[in-house]
Amino acid sequence: MATSNSLYQRAIDVLKQNDRGTYSLPTHGLYPVQFNWDSAFAALGYRFINQHRAWQEVMQLASSQWPDGMIPHIMFRGDHDGYFPGPDIWNTGQFIETSGITQPPVLASVVRQLDEAGPYRDVNGMYDMLRRLVRWHDWFMKARLDPQSLGIQIIHPWESGRDNLTDWDQGMARVEIADLPPYTRRDLDHVDSSQRPTKEQYDRYLTLVKFGRDRHWPQAYLGQNSPFRMVDPGMTAFLLRANRDLIVLLNKYLPEDTDSIALIQSHINTLELGWLNLWNPKVQAYTAYDPVLQQPIDSVSAASFLSCYASMHNDLHHGHLMDQFDRIANKVKFMVPSFDPEHADFDAKRYWRGPVWHVINNRIGLGFSEVGEHERAERIRKDSEDLIAQSSFYEYFNPITGDGLGGKDFTWTASVYLDWVMQEADHGQD
Ligand code: GLC
Repeated sequence: MATSNSLYQRAIDVLKQNDRGTYSLPTHGLYPVQFNWDSAFAALGYRFINQHRAWQEVMQLASSQWPDGMIPHIMFRGDHDGYFPGPDIWNTGQFIETSGITQPPVLASVVRQLDEAGPYRDVNGMYDMLRRLVRWHDWFMKARLDPQSLGIQIIHPWESGRDNLTDWDQGMARVEIADLPPYTRRDLDHVDSSQRPTKEQYDRYLTLVKFGRDRHWPQAYLGQNSPFRMVDPGMTAFLLRANRDLIVLLNKYLPEDTDSIALIQSHINTLELGWLNLWNPKVQAYTAYDPVLQQPIDSVSAASFLSCYASMHNDLHHGHLMDQFDRIANKVKFMVPSFDPEHADFDAKRYWRGPVWHVINNRIGLGFSEVGEHERAERIRKDSEDLIAQSSFYEYFNPITGDGLGGKDFTWTASVYLDWVMQEADHGQD
């Protein structure tokens, strides 16, 4: 077991290794490109090394915004070392080469955390950031809101950031695999295939990319017509929380912009209804929802526990949700598995079908502490710490054995360690 002192140094080394000057990589080798929510989480860690670098990271991310308001999921900057699928497969025609979908909107929440630790020194840069955030959050309502449930849909499993989650299987089964040219996956050069999505899943992922590319990425159209659509409790909770954080920042920096404040407030009202609509009485949890069949998906994932993070804990369901948490906590050694360990499709090693991810733990843990669920929050934090002490800064972890899985030396695992796992324990640097 590594000590907290050596882990602190090691976390900083991981961030340095993946730093490319003005942006960071999730990890070198496996992911030689900038990812949206990875960058936001990277900034949380950078602020322990250099606050200026942390602000640079989020500013770079926001600068990739499309004219329609979307901040994309991948930015191809610098040498992206043959990353697959690369810019020519996405073919988005943007000035900065990017993918054609988005990722969970945690940026505004991170910007608020950075601002509280030390405001950005260029106030005009901050205004620009806030205006971009307003446009991105508004884009979600135009391009991804499901009018039925009022939750946020994904048009590609990669949008959710929880790529091969079991909840998407039913929607993915409807995607008819297109005639694809032969391709070579680069991820399998770096990680054992038992820990990654299957070939059939990958064919479907690429079919969805082709669908957007052939139509030149009309985002609102894709939101209604993509062959894959699912309402994601993760996206819905992240956006709801991000809107709350954005309102705080707007009131601080742009209080005269009453139109933006009113717009974001109206989105909060809609998403609160959306979140409540995702309550699934059959499984007694907030779950995903299939907008095509107009029926809920009957399984509990880690995103079910984001209700506190979204400040949606003041309803009758909170107690039931905590019962679900305790049930799962009794089944695994390390919380929080990405998928219900009692479900027949649980897989402790395969990516989002079971393993623990520190970024999700961080957001659930924050939400729990904010609403006074201190014991459960501490269980998550302590488990996150033990996983790193046992296995180091891996991409994800086996919730039963604690083995590190996927890529090594992962930026967001190191960041979350510096920002939350280590701080909350009050270990300091000594
Ligand atoms: C995987 C994860 C996604 C993450 C990316 C880079 O695709 O599922 O959430 O952003 O890797 O780390």
